[in-house]
Amino acid sequence: MSGVLKLIIVVFLINAFFTYIGLYLLPQAESHPPKEIKIEEGITVEELVDIGKEIVFGKGQCMVCHPMKTETGMRAPAISSIGALMEKEAKERGISPEFHVFEALVAPGAYVAEGFENMMPPVHKPPIGLTEEELIAVAAYLQSQGSRVTISFPESLKILKEVLKKTGG
Ligand code: HEC
Repeated sequence: MSGVLKLIIVVFLINAFFTYIGLYLLPQAESHPPKEIKIEEGITVEELVDIGKEIVFGKGQCMVCHPMKTETGMRAPAISSIGALMEKEAKERGISPEFHVFEALVAPGAYVAEGFENMMPPVHKPPIGLTEEELIAVAAYLQSQGSRVTISFPESLKILKEVLKKTGG
């Protein structure tokens, strides 16, 4: 065999080898967008709570002010017991727990939790701007922190709209 032919064969084999590695062995740079559950009719309470949690730790920016666990000098009530706290407050106010939770989100100044200052922004307004569906998911998650979850979708839309109407927002 001529030297040139041998060289061609070697180059071909090396090429084939690296093509194989590229195609089958290297991790593919595929994008896997996060699985998105839509908040729509038929969503379970568990799914709603999961989405609510994601919003509280993400888009909702709640953790800028709220600590997860009770700590000294905290600026806002701890999330891990906020459901229990709000259930107690709703009882004291003689209103439904659902009304109290939604009001805390869209008109935080209407009732200021004891020992804290009125500095929470209404979270359905810009810059946070949660949608009605997102407010329901967040409310369900908050209830799950120490209280029974009584908020569901789409059933709770009615009471959310009532709260929005009463608080002018
Ligand atoms: C700028 C700081 C700040 C941000 C951001 C913020 N909060 Fe608050 N939040 C507070 C403070 C302070 C209080 C206590 C005063 C009050 O009741 O309004 C409070 C109170 C609450 C209450 C009522 C607690 C009670 O016992 O009545 C809930 C519920 C709540 N926040 C949820 C949220 C959620 C959910 C988010 C994100 C979507 C959020 N907060 C974002 C500061 C904040």
